[in-house]
Amino acid sequence: MINRTEQNRTEHLSLRPATIEDAEMLFKWRNDIDTRMASHTTEEVKLDKHIGWLKATLENKNRQLFVTEENGVAVGTVRADYADSVYELSWTVSPEARGKGIGKRMVSLLANKINEPIRAEVKKGNDASSRIAEYSGMKFVREDSNNVLHYQRDEINQKA
Ligand SMILES: CC(C)(COP(=O)(O)OP(=O)(O)OC[C@H]1O[C@@H](n2cnc3c(N)ncnc32)[C@H](O)[C@@H]1OP(=O)(O)O)[C@@H](O)C(=O)NCCC(=O)NCCS
Repeated sequence: MINRTEQNRTEHLSLRPATIEDAEMLFKWRNDIDTRMASHTTEEVKLDKHIGWLKATLENKNRQLFVTEENGVAVGTVRADYADSVYELSWTVSPEARGKGIGKRMVSLLANKINEPIRAEVKKGNDASSRIAEYSGMKFVREDSNNVLHYQRDEINQKA
């Protein structure tokens, strides 16, 4: 399991557990058009629904939501959902911070802390996220009938 309270650092990038104080920021990122297009659910999310989702997320022992900070500034979020002995990772980089390698660094930072297998689902055409999944040690497994690409790292990561 991942230690929820641990602050994981590489050079200037750190992961901290999300809190209810992050609701407004995460809400903005969630409704960004590129984030919506990359999500399974593409319609705009309402604020009350988002707050309900965040509260439930923070109480869910099988879900861990992190905010990534670069030099103390929030630049992205990465989530790990645990089911059937596999962590499914999903991620968003803040619109202002994209294209600078943060996605690769933040997802691999979390992936390297996880001993169990990890997986991710990436919509076909989201090439940046495919690169991120591969950089984080996952390999392409299959494309499903909804044009979703499935990535997985089966082996136990000994570096964590
Ligand atoms: C997709 C997303 C996470 C990428 O984050 P990012 O910080 O901009 O990505 P990085 O800078 O780490 O780039 C990752 C790789 O993709 C490449 N890349 C970046 N943007 C790209 C694009 N539009 N098309 C193709 N490749 C792209 C980068 O060059 C890099 O590859 P390289 O190291 O081999 O050169 C970010 O754009 C985002 O949050 N989008 C909306 C939400 C989303 O798509 N979430 C993922 C759902 S699976």
